[in-house]
Amino acid sequence: MLRPTFGSVVLLVAACSALGASLNVSTCPGYTLSALSETQNGFTAHLDLAGPACNAFGTDIANLTIQVTYETQTRLHVNLFDTANSQFTVPDSVISLPGASSSSSANTSDLIFNYEASPFEFWITRRSDPDAFPLFDTRKASLPATPIPPVMKDDASTALDGFALVFEDQYLQLTSALPLDANVYGLGEVVATSGFRRDVGTNGGGTIQTNWDRDDPDPTDENIYGSHPIYMEHRFNNATKVSQSHGVFLVSPAPADILLLTPPSSATSLIQYRLIGGTISLYFLSGPSPISVTQQYAALIGTPTWQPYWGFGFHLCRYGYKSIDDVREVVRTMREKGIPLETQWTDIDLYHAYRDFTTDPVTWPLEQVADFIRELRENNQHFIPIVDAGIAVEANSSDVYVPYRKGTELDVYIKNPDGSEYIGQVWPGFTVFADWFAPNAAAWWAEALKNWSQTGVEFSGIWLDMNEADSFCEGSCGSSSRRKRGIGAGNQTGVDLNNPPYAIHNGFGRLGVHDIAPNATHFGGYVELDVHNLWGLMEAEATHKALQEIIPGQRPFIISRSTFPSAGKWTGHWLGDNFSRWSYLYYSIQGILQFQLFQIPFVGADTCGFNENTSEELCNRWMQLGAFTPFYRNHAEKGTIRQEPYLWESVTEASKVAMDVRYRMLPYWYTLFANSSTDGTPPVRALFWEFPEEQELFANDRQFLIGRDILVTPVLTEGATTVDGTFPGRGNSIWRDWYTHDVVNATIGGNTTLAAPLGHIPVHIRDGAAILLHAAPAYSVEETKEGPFSLLISQSADGAAFGTAFLDDGISDPPGPSTTVKFQATKGGVDIASQGEWNVTQKLVQVTILGVAPAPGSVSVGGVSHNFTYTEAQQELVLTDLDIDLNGGTQIVWE
Ligand code: GLC
Repeated sequence: MLRPTFGSVVLLVAACSALGASLNVSTCPGYTLSALSETQNGFTAHLDLAGPACNAFGTDIANLTIQVTYETQTRLHVNLFDTANSQFTVPDSVISLPGASSSSSANTSDLIFNYEASPFEFWITRRSDPDAFPLFDTRKASLPATPIPPVMKDDASTALDGFALVFEDQYLQLTSALPLDANVYGLGEVVATSGFRRDVGTNGGGTIQTNWDRDDPDPTDENIYGSHPIYMEHRFNNATKVSQSHGVFLVSPAPADILLLTPPSSATSLIQYRLIGGTISLYFLSGPSPISVTQQYAALIGTPTWQPYWGFGFHLCRYGYKSIDDVREVVRTMREKGIPLETQWTDIDLYHAYRDFTTDPVTWPLEQVADFIRELRENNQHFIPIVDAGIAVEANSSDVYVPYRKGTELDVYIKNPDGSEYIGQVWPGFTVFADWFAPNAAAWWAEALKNWSQTGVEFSGIWLDMNEADSFCEGSCGSSSRRKRGIGAGNQTGVDLNNPPYAIHNGFGRLGVHDIAPNATHFGGYVELDVHNLWGLMEAEATHKALQEIIPGQRPFIISRSTFPSAGKWTGHWLGDNFSRWSYLYYSIQGILQFQLFQIPFVGADTCGFNENTSEELCNRWMQLGAFTPFYRNHAEKGTIRQEPYLWESVTEASKVAMDVRYRMLPYWYTLFANSSTDGTPPVRALFWEFPEEQELFANDRQFLIGRDILVTPVLTEGATTVDGTFPGRGNSIWRDWYTHDVVNATIGGNTTLAAPLGHIPVHIRDGAAILLHAAPAYSVEETKEGPFSLLISQSADGAAFGTAFLDDGISDPPGPSTTVKFQATKGGVDIASQGEWNVTQKLVQVTILGVAPAPGSVSVGGVSHNFTYTEAQQELVLTDLDIDLNGGTQIVWE
């Protein structure tokens, strides 16, 4: 939904109010470390305020505790908290972190915690390279002499002299030096004009990443739906030619600004955390490869949920469907045009009076909706409805809305400080919001979803929207009798939570604009200010568990707009309300890459764009690009032109071509996601994640890799018929065209221009790849899955290739028996071996091997001679009419 933004005005207000509060600020004293005592995996010590309090934006906390824990060989935890434990920390019930393995210690760690006791400063180094620029360095001497440049529009910071540790009840600050022009990725969620690599301000500029979840249609460089205070930094040493990555994760849902910047003529860049609550709990992940950083992050916060196989099919949606007949016609036309449609979605149009868990009796009669969903199911298709965060409040005593009534009875809603229900406003008018900390909330939510499903709205998954959670009025609103404005009301302790002394750079200015007021209260005494950024995560967990009850034994399929670290355990994500513009086609790539790092890998953008009218050309390119991203859904805003792919002949064709590739590749996608759910290996990859020594790739976010082996080089500009792409490997990799199998004659270390007429998306296969494919893409994922397999091998110069395929029933929760098939090629053959309990019924009927030379004279399969074709130009050996059982092993040999 497009709503007015207040961007620049608000930034000014934020800066002024922060400045106002900071005028009396001088130097903050920092802390002194004492009373160190060793623990099993590290040490603990006291930190005491080293001088007169500066009370910059709150009250300095005099006594802190530091705990340093070497949790594993690759993970170090530095926890700075108030000794009295009165600051908010995330309860274990919301995010459970694994803690230390019993054997780990400073001696076995890849990382070293170094410190000065007075003033307290710390820095983290690698054991393997203790003299290198530290991974994290809070020493004043390491930081730039000049503080924050005015270009950051940030008067508040200049008032805080120096970079000492500041730990106040409403303001915490920690600063670390970064190498000049550091390669920093992550933090977010954001649509960054600088690209996937964040702007550290080497050429002016810089980044303010604000963490305060809010609903705003994908503005650039501002806070949006989710908060992810994790970054990866990648370094390349030109002298040694060695690259190393590490990760830094701050476990904090506190409203925050995280700054990346480089003061003018400074020899270092810096990162500065400014939190307006909570504690400083930092995890350092040693990598040293980019992919190992993401795996180590998953080992900490939890691996992503298993996706059902059908989830990788094509999804279609829009806001503004007129009726059940409208949607039926869409589903019918998709089939008539032969464009695969796996899942039909409905938006809030389905609802009666925009209330969750209802259907409109006139335009969406329940029996017809139920019939429609049944027909979809009979055709191996699926149905997913939206569920909004706000629960409508009954208008008067004769208005019976059971979900609301039940929630009141069970006491599950967020409250005002005086204990009355907090009233927000969303699509249905006045609403309340679940308080996920309330003991009955999850069960109430599960029951509401279950009852809805049982009325006939038998969904296969759930789409969670507006869950930042968004409310259109500022403060508790509602009918005059209920009216109880949150703004300025303060909370029990007398602190004005709605206007904290340090104003973070929230895109809407005051925190209560388009969000629940910060002083709203939760069960357990929590205030919205502290737990706001957890709402989407907690709703996703409750919904995941509800779906496990409603559709037992099957993997919950959920997409959530708001996310927080560990949300991937419960849900996927879409990139929110983007625009039908070429720039947003490009931004979709960085969005997908960000969420690989965030461990919510099942992610995609609204293809063809959400806000504004799309065009035939843009929709053509986007339907093709979307087919190579994990979550593939076309969705649009009400009032925009229709954008079903069949509406233009060229888009119909382009979609079919791309979907044919996608459905063939489903075993590959599924294997990548199985690996991700097992150990956090990211399915989609930035190019440098696979080629970490190639500096020219560090800022590349116009291409991406699916797994190790598939390189996608989409057209991202209007009117183009060619596209420039980099082919990594510096001449040591062989890249073959997906469609023609020709080897690319690539420019080493630079751009290669590829033909890319409308309707063609360049896709290349890396040498060394062995990829199991579906041989016969069908209309639905289920029918495709039942069909036979083919195998595509792209040999390296020495003949080697390797790949695995993870096969199971694609739906069981928890996952049941599985079989992993391994394909290993050498100069004269391919070895196929499988292991596992899943009975693979589909046969391998075709094998294509690229890079075979010279032409073979004979080929045998399992010792029996087999016919083949060979094409010299592509060095392509093709075997058809095979009947290979993938439960056992076999050899293909040529000579
Ligand atoms: C929000 C969602 C969008 C949806 C609309 C109406 O803007 O992000 O996807 O269509 O609400 O429900």
